Amino acid sequence: MADFKKQEIISQEEFPEDKRMDLTLRPKTLSDFIGQERLKDNLRVFIAAAQQRKESLDHALFHGSHGLGKTTLSYIIAQERGVDIKITSGPALEKVGDLAAILTSLEDKSILFIDEIHRLNRAIEEVLYPAMEEYAIDLVVGQGPSAKILRLNLPRFTLIGATTRPSLVSPPLRDRFGAVYQLNFYEVEEIKQIIIRSAKILGMRISSSAAQEIAQSSRFTPRVANRLLKRVRDYAQVKGKKEIDQEAARQALEMLEIDQSGLNQIDRKILEVLISKFNGGPVGIKTLAVATGEDIASLEEIYEPYLIQLGFLNRTSRGRVATELSYQHLNFKNKLC
Ligand SMILES: Nc1ncnc2c1ncn2[C@@H]1O[C@H](COP(=O)(O)OP(=O)(O)O)[C@@H](O)[C@H]1O
Ligand SMILES: [Mg+2]
Repeated sequence: MADFKKQEIISQEEFPEDKRMDLTLRPKTLSDFIGQERLKDNLRVFIAAAQQRKESLDHALFHGSHGLGKTTLSYIIAQERGVDIKITSGPALEKVGDLAAILTSLEDKSILFIDEIHRLNRAIEEVLYPAMEEYAIDLVVGQGPSAKILRLNLPRFTLIGATTRPSLVSPPLRDRFGAVYQLNFYEVEEIKQIIIRSAKILGMRISSSAAQEIAQSSRFTPRVANRLLKRVRDYAQVKGKKEIDQEAARQALEMLEIDQSGLNQIDRKILEVLISKFNGGPVGIKTLAVATGEDIASLEEIYEPYLIQLGFLNRTSRGRVATELSYQHLNFKNKLC
């Protein structure tokens, strides 16, 4: 039961257990994919238009926080198009040869998915440009003065890139995507529906109020919702409950030290440090990282987006500021009093 640390449960990042869970819970069609309605409408048009022209899809870039459905949507597109998808990631592609091997193994209209595409190295990016634009790669064969450039033609594939940090995708790479889609945080009601769907697939019985309770603590993120659902199930099972009811859900969340706004210890520590050590801010991200003992990337990518979304934190040009709402939430006296 406990191969997850408390902190990992709330984190939006992917862990090995998620991969197993993904196989069963990942929606397989667009109609199974809950929420992101506008994005889905756009995708339907995007897919249908390519289908009618009998062409490959334009290259597409998905951006949004961890666990919102970027990988899932890429699989769905492949499924709806009836084509193969090959999966890799920015950090995994170290040498030009690695990318060349993958590109030359693609088939016409098939999809190459590159996760964390903002982490590609320069040399690889240079190879991708002509691959995306002209469906060709230039390989250097031989060494020294006798080296020759060999141009290899590629099938008309589609590149789908995913990133949690769109600002770090280099402009020339970003410009080569025909379509750019943003995934937003979900509504609590949508997360609730995702929990009910997952519970059904996993053969669990859950009350509507329990699903609501878990949804409220899920950071508006499907991956976190699925993870919490499993922890709550473990708890209910140990307590001998046949159905997950609201009480079991609440107790399980309390045990995980997740409060009713979905904040964990680290979120609370960030706000507490901001308020008690810096009088609510503004304070620079580097100072905040040192004072909380968290690294800057986790602060920026995991904790802050959620705290901002909830209205507990503001990012200003002078630094991070705790809002009045966070003073209330943590029972601190108001800054102005
Ligand atoms: N809209 C959705 N409806 C139902 N489940 C979803 C949805 N989006 C994501 N999920 C679930 O959340 C998990 C994480 O999604 P994933 O596509 O891996 O996120 P990302 O690639 O953006 O980090 C998936 O395995 C899937 O089970
Ligand atoms: Mg992913």
